[in-house]
Amino acid sequence: MSNTSEDNIMRQGDRQCIALTLNGRERSGYCEPRDLLSDFIRHELGATGTHVGCEHGVCGACTVHIDGVAGRSCLMLAVQAQGRRIDTVEGLAPDMVLGDLQQAFQRHHALQCGFCTAGILMSCADYLKRVPDPTEAQVRDMLSGHLCRCTGYTPIVAAVLDVAARRQASKQAGETVEAAHA
Ligand code: FES
Ligand code: FES
Repeated sequence: MSNTSEDNIMRQGDRQCIALTLNGRERSGYCEPRDLLSDFIRHELGATGTHVGCEHGVCGACTVHIDGVAGRSCLMLAVQAQGRRIDTVEGLAPDMVLGDLQQAFQRHHALQCGFCTAGILMSCADYLKRVPDPTEAQVRDMLSGHLCRCTGYTPIVAAVLDVAARRQASKQAGETVEAAHA
């Protein structure tokens, strides 16, 4: 049976337009009320850096920032993101230049297949804003919310501690320069 224009209107009518800010840009797309934010980001907005593993909030692969705070995009409906700020792993490398956290992962070989990496990066980025100088135990505790089947975690922990140390050193150097000019 062929589709009529009325059929198309009905299908469109079942879907709702969602507008949000994705990585600093105003975006909009259609979703059904049952659609997950993770699927909306990937399939409707085309930001496929966010991965989907368990869809149960367990693996952490789908982690994004929701209004600046890390959260599982598979545990949120797309309609709940209306008007909110969503940041994904693509936002860590604006203009395709890797951020310092990503560079640290590269230096320490903190990924293999990379499936878990986007989510881990988003959790680490949020965590380091709140805990800029963590201990190894704190980093391991934070990472316990993520499942990686490849790396064994040791290089990931090393990368996070490395970037934290570099940021602290650069902050202290800045403060020294400021004090010298005071
Ligand atoms: S896909 Fe969301 S936590 Fe696993
Ligand atoms: S690098 Fe493969 S699952 Fe983490």
